[in-house]
Parts: sequence; C-alpha cells; structure tokens
Amino acid sequence: MADKINVLISEEEINKRIKELGEQISRDYAGKEVHLICVLKGGVFFTTELAKRISLPVTFDFMSCSSYGSGTSSSGIVKIVKDLDESIEGKDVLVVEDIIDSGKTLSYLMPMLAQRKPASLRLCTMLDKPDRRVVHVDVDYTAFTVPDVFIVGYGLDYDQKYRNLPYIGAVEL
Ligand code: IMP
Ligand code: MG
Repeated sequence: MADKINVLISEEEINKRIKELGEQISRDYAGKEVHLICVLKGGVFFTTELAKRISLPVTFDFMSCSSYGSGTSSSGIVKIVKDLDESIEGKDVLVVEDIIDSGKTLSYLMPMLAQRKPASLRLCTMLDKPDRRVVHVDVDYTAFTVPDVFIVGYGLDYDQKYRNLPYIGAVEL
C-alpha cells in the first residue's frame, strides 16, 4: 500500500533557508577553510546543497553510523559503519546531519570527533525535532525545527525509500 505523505516544508522554502545558512556559515568562517563531514546517508542532499552556498574553500568527508534497532526509533547504541577517510586534526570541522531526534547519534559522534583534535568542531542540522530529545546535543546551526512527526524526503527515509523527494514531508503512519 502506498504511504500518504504530506508536504511539510516545500522545495522553495528549503532552498531559501539553505542560502541563508550558507551565507551565515561563510561569515562565521571568514578567512578559513570549512571541512564538511556529511553523515550518511540522510545528510547527503542537505550537505551538497549547503556546500554550494558557502563562499569559502570547502573540503568534504563522509561518515556512516547505524544505531541498532529498526522501525522509527533509535536504540542509542551507535556503530560506525564507515569512518572518515582523512584525519581532521587542525581542521575547522562542520558536521552536517539530516535530523536530530533523540540526540543519541550526535551525543556519541561529537565527543568522538572532538578527541581527534580538530581546530574547531561545530554541528549543522537540517532538522531538529526537540520534542523527542533524550540526550542533550549542542547544535550550532539548524535549518528548521519540526514537530514530532515521522519525516521523509530530502535525504530522510522510511524503510530506505523517499530519500529523493525534493521536499520535506510527513508520513501518515
Ligand atoms: P537520533 O535519534 O537523534 O540519534 O537520530 C538518529 C537517526 O534517526 C537520524 O540521523 C535519522 O537518520 C533517523 N531519524 C530520526 N528521526 C527521523 C525521521 O523523522 N525520519 C527519518 N529518519 C529519522
Ligand atoms: Mg542520520
């Protein structure tokens, strides 16, 4: 049966907000090089669009984590499925994530990256779902705050589907 998906944030709104964030990041990192770490797979659409709006030298690396558990909630046990290709020592690192839900993934990932001695370490998330937070996470840049509904599109999946939707939608579960 087809899932019913309602548009929550349109493609136009996303583009506008990404442009604003890119300009803000370009100001904040003026004179520096930004090393973007994309958290796969969900962060990939947001990372590439954001990178195009940053008017500074940008380099990329990719990391993939899985949190054990299935369905629509995360267990909090995080496993690194794919680690970074390069050292982040001395770099100005900006982690780019799709969504912060319970906060368990990032509360594991950020301290782990901090131990690798970057010059600076910040976090940029496309979506923040604060109602679901169980672990505190310091977020530096947020594109949108969303209510407690299950989100798909713009990188986010439901059973690996719908990542390619050009808008952010809510699934009627
Ligand atoms: P956490 O609960 O903050 O650790 O988030 C773990 C991961 O769960 C996120 O990076 C997403 O990949 C996924 N996730 C959380 N909420 C949603 C959602 O509403 N739709 C799709 N994936 C989600
Ligand atoms: Mg994710």
